[in-house]
Amino acid sequence: MAASDVVVSDPEQVLGPLFESGWSQHSSEAETPDAILQEMVKLGDRLGTRVAGRAGQLGEVVQPIVADEAHPRSLSARYGLGALPFHTELSHRPRPCRYLLLGCVDPGSPAAATMLLDWRRLGFAREELALLEEAPVLVRTGRRSFYSTILAPGGAFLRYDPGCLEPLDERGRKAIQLVEDRATRTPSYAHHWRRGDVLIIDNWRVLHGRSPSDNGSGRRLARILIDA
Ligand SMILES: [Fe+2]
Repeated sequence: MAASDVVVSDPEQVLGPLFESGWSQHSSEAETPDAILQEMVKLGDRLGTRVAGRAGQLGEVVQPIVADEAHPRSLSARYGLGALPFHTELSHRPRPCRYLLLGCVDPGSPAAATMLLDWRRLGFAREELALLEEAPVLVRTGRRSFYSTILAPGGAFLRYDPGCLEPLDERGRKAIQLVEDRATRTPSYAHHWRRGDVLIIDNWRVLHGRSPSDNGSGRRLARILIDA
């Protein structure tokens, strides 16, 4: 799987690959975090409305953190600087954001790659899709925890995040295990960052993860989230 470079001035070149493969890549000349965020906002505005992330910010710069310093229900709390497993951004919201934009402020040294995997390539059989759409799971998010399923009705999106999903019964356990096994075995795309790179990810279709990182690597990614 490969996505072509795109230029921000031509919306067709940004949106074409995004609709085709579920993600697209844009290389910008921007160097400062503010300039990179600004370019991302321009791209995001074409797609929908910005929503706040867990920290309540409409745009933020994130870096790998050790488990002790992470939000208790985040993946970093469980995995720290190790590989972050594939997940859907904002799985703990009733409706996860549609798009996720990541921009490289600093690739870090050693650098860690962002991994992308279209869940439709996981090869689920019809009865597996039914399990994912029907098995109840608990989405843990403090006082607002709620019950849901991994696959939204009609397959609109896949909600998957080992940090906040808990099985309620044997079927739920099987469903979570099924996605984990399949995501581990299916080849994914590894994006190796250069400063100024921006990835636009269709969060309803493409799971993302991170290869292992190092403390003090300096890796910083700007992030905005879009509802559409
Ligand atoms: Fe994420």
